[in-house]
Amino acid sequence: AAQDAAAGEKVFNQCKACHTIEAGGPNRVGPNLHGVVGRKAGAVETFKYSDAIKNAGTWDEATLDAYLTDPKSAVPNNKMAFSGVKNEQARKDLIAYLKKNS
Ligand code: HEM
Repeated sequence: AAQDAAAGEKVFNQCKACHTIEAGGPNRVGPNLHGVVGRKAGAVETFKYSDAIKNAGTWDEATLDAYLTDPKSAVPNNKMAFSGVKNEQARKDLIAYLKKNS
């Protein structure tokens, strides 16, 4: 099915313990995610990232899809303590939601 940002907003509920998404939102355990699609990894200046994330390239739909499927294998040694979103449609919808907020 197509990407559904409204469905993705619900998927994002499992990210909210650690991330805000609104422009200018605070960092929590993880960095604010506003504008993450199309941005260099590790670019929020007020957040202390692992070296692994800082060297992860640029977040586009493909790199986000891999990272959010299995964070530990996609970016070894990154410090996001999250197992990933295993359902492909849920991931597509989530990425559409991230894009809408970018
Ligand atoms: C980093 C997305 C869930 C903690 C990131 C990054 C993305 C992301 C895209 C890289 C940000 C950047 O380069 O600026 C998500 C999404 C989630 C989720 C979409 C839900 C599906 C979580 C949860 C936690 C968490 C539940 C906490 C238990 C972190 C941390 C980092 C991070 C600590 C920085 C990693 C590092 O510097 O190695 N997340 N995340 N995230 N996230 Fe998440």
